[in-house]
Amino acid sequence: MSNQRVNKAVIPAAGLGTRFLPATKAMPKEMLPIVDKPVIQYVVEEAARAGLADLLMITGRNKNALENHFDKATEIESALQLKGDVGRLSQVAFSNSLANIHYTRQGDPKGLGHAVLRAKAHVAEQSFAVLLGDDMIDARDQLLPQMLDAHQKYDAHVVALMEVPMESIHLYGSAAVEKTEDEGVVRVKALVEKPTADQAPSNLAVIGRYVLKSRIFETLENTPAGRGDEIQLTDALAHEAAADKVFGVVFSGRRYDTGDKLDYLKSTIQVAVDREDIGDELREWLKGFSQNL
Ligand code: G1P
Repeated sequence: MSNQRVNKAVIPAAGLGTRFLPATKAMPKEMLPIVDKPVIQYVVEEAARAGLADLLMITGRNKNALENHFDKATEIESALQLKGDVGRLSQVAFSNSLANIHYTRQGDPKGLGHAVLRAKAHVAEQSFAVLLGDDMIDARDQLLPQMLDAHQKYDAHVVALMEVPMESIHLYGSAAVEKTEDEGVVRVKALVEKPTADQAPSNLAVIGRYVLKSRIFETLENTPAGRGDEIQLTDALAHEAAADKVFGVVFSGRRYDTGDKLDYLKSTIQVAVDREDIGDELREWLKGFSQNL
């Protein structure tokens, strides 16, 4: 049992976004909108809802828009104030009030494990969450709170897992697991980063949410470069799993993948049809559109 309350989250956002070029030539991929909100804001809102009020973003060159987005936009705010546009004003102001956000740069793009290691000085001895921007969790479904509970109960690292079709497992970390007494919580016995379907221990994929003990930093420091010649967070966690120190929360809610073009488009439509302002009209239009396909 851990009695430490987790309040820090690390959000790696240094990727080059090559899959979205040329859109990401001068703009971070995290700023691509899902309807009218950048992907990164959904992730920051999720962290804030889970009580994580201290965020560290790991950024890189060309990522200034991220800092601007979460900063006060005085010009826009006073223009909206003058117009009396209270609705938009509160939306703009909302994004600066979500959390206390810090930024550091990754420097060399040496992988997710390397990005997380950049958080060592900020996080120090505490447990912390990691949220990857390519995965969006629907606000109506809970994942981080369950992970924080499991972390507290088992005093161990916790990863988020989700069943995926075996033909997609090569895109993820894959976990071998055993049941625990808790429904939806498993003990992770092994982890493999992006295995082929025949080498994957299961179709349980690591999705981009982690609650980690600060011990992970030392493990990462001793983790050699792995797949793609990068320092993999999965490899460090595989090392910890071998010593029975990793648990998994199996998620079966709504997750949107924004990591590549097709999934991004699907996610945009999924989110948009549920929106109060445009959902009904879009749904109607989609029905007609699909009949002509
Ligand atoms: C990363 C991790 C992988 C995980 C995935 C979840 O891969 O390395 O283990 O399954 O995120 O989205 P990436 O998608 O950054 O290549």
